[in-house]
Amino acid sequence: MALSLSLITAIGFAQPAKQYEPQVGQEGKDVVWVPTPQALVAKRNAAKEGVSDRATFAKADLFESDFSQAQVITMFLLPSINLKLRPKILDLKPGTRIVSNSFDMEEWKPDETANAEGCSNWCTAYLWIVPAKVNGTWKLPNGELTLKQTFQMISGTLKSGNVVTPVNGKLNGEEISFTAGEGQYNGRVNGNSMEGSLKSGGKWSAMRAGR
Ligand SMILES: C[S@@+](CC[C@H](N)C(=O)[O-])C[C@H]1O[C@@H](n2cnc3c(N)ncnc32)[C@H](O)[C@@H]1O
Repeated sequence: MALSLSLITAIGFAQPAKQYEPQVGQEGKDVVWVPTPQALVAKRNAAKEGVSDRATFAKADLFESDFSQAQVITMFLLPSINLKLRPKILDLKPGTRIVSNSFDMEEWKPDETANAEGCSNWCTAYLWIVPAKVNGTWKLPNGELTLKQTFQMISGTLKSGNVVTPVNGKLNGEEISFTAGEGQYNGRVNGNSMEGSLKSGGKWSAMRAGR
């Protein structure tokens, strides 16, 4: 389900002949109305027939509505509102995609940035993919992985016997990839377990410590 986070302005159903036309800069609850340029949303329009049955439009206050089931969220709000929403967004299902027109989420760096061609104002789209939560200690059959997670970035250590190797990596939703010394690990997080393969060959798996 795709969801656009902004208030859908009420339409006067009593007079269908007069189409409601919002005005640039008109009052919105927390953010004024400025439309996202067509150049930034033209691909969605092209795909309209294919996604219309999966897109939901709701007239709601974004701070009160439940958007936990959304798979894609588009928003054009303000930096301060993005930051207010950030904790709620980070609690969404891993893999949920968030696209923001022009405003970022400070320390949570976007996974991708795109600039629309043929567009003069508000032309940058940022994409974030909600990362799985992996912060903490994980047990491997022959070692212990301690991860420190900062949004989608991970660092930490892999301890095997007396050998401690630094770990660095990244999450893309539930997909995890990290290096530990020469080892290149790729895998998938599934709640309190994760598993995958090593680039050099072979499989790996880990369980959250204390489970
Ligand atoms: C910059 S406009 C973006 C309009 C449209 N989403 C787009 O991208 O073309 C911001 C919109 O957010 C709406 N808005 C402001 N505060 C809101 C809130 N608390 N809940 C839902 N929508 C809100 C405003 O009414 C306005 O339409």
